[in-house]
Amino acid sequence: MAQVDQNEMKRIAAEKAVETFVKDGMTVGLGTGSTAYFVILKVAELVKQGYKLKCVATSVASENLALENGIPIVDLNDVDHVDVTIDGADEVDPKMNLIKGLGGALLREKIVAAASVEEIIVVDESKLVEKIGTRCSLPVEVLPFGHLKTAYGLKRQGCEPVLRMKGSEPFVTDGGNLIYDCRFDGGIDYLSFKESALDAIPGVVECGLFINMVRAVVIAHKDGSVEIRE
Ligand code: 5RP
Repeated sequence: MAQVDQNEMKRIAAEKAVETFVKDGMTVGLGTGSTAYFVILKVAELVKQGYKLKCVATSVASENLALENGIPIVDLNDVDHVDVTIDGADEVDPKMNLIKGLGGALLREKIVAAASVEEIIVVDESKLVEKIGTRCSLPVEVLPFGHLKTAYGLKRQGCEPVLRMKGSEPFVTDGGNLIYDCRFDGGIDYLSFKESALDAIPGVVECGLFINMVRAVVIAHKDGSVEIRE
């Protein structure tokens, strides 16, 4: 049977999610990353068809892409709530818990997700894991001030934190912060406790664990089929 490549899986999942969950008149959260890219292009099609949508972006990159494609962007502060947000993820477990943030936008993504009635995740099947933390490191956004001390606090939580770089300089988020990618050997146990413990370290702004925040995951498979898990 013919197989589709990863980029095509991302497009299929993104388009299915927009067709299924976005209705005329909604306020829509736009995710960040290479899968959310296809979400934004599909939302732009709806706007061209005459849908009256207001959109909130989870990053400067997504805002720019949306504006270039004629999507009206509003400030999160100017809307009462977001009806639906469609975003990507780096890991999805069987309970629809996530790791996000390899694209560096986890803080705004989490703020928008928390303000959303429905958080919908779009992934290709390579993002599915049995246990969170087994496929990728957990991104943690930290203040630049004293970040080496914050990294020590992260290490005491049982991980190996590595400062994310962009070329020879530290990667800087849209919020002006840094990211430590934290490798937990054997994955992460007791997700809610770990999220609370990490977020309580002075200097940590937010971690990329998204626990009990997701309404549905739209998964594209290699055979071109798409599954909606709720
Ligand atoms: C950005 C994210 C992305 O949603 C995540 O990294 C998935 O990206 P992609 O669809 O490119 O694999 O969390 O902060």
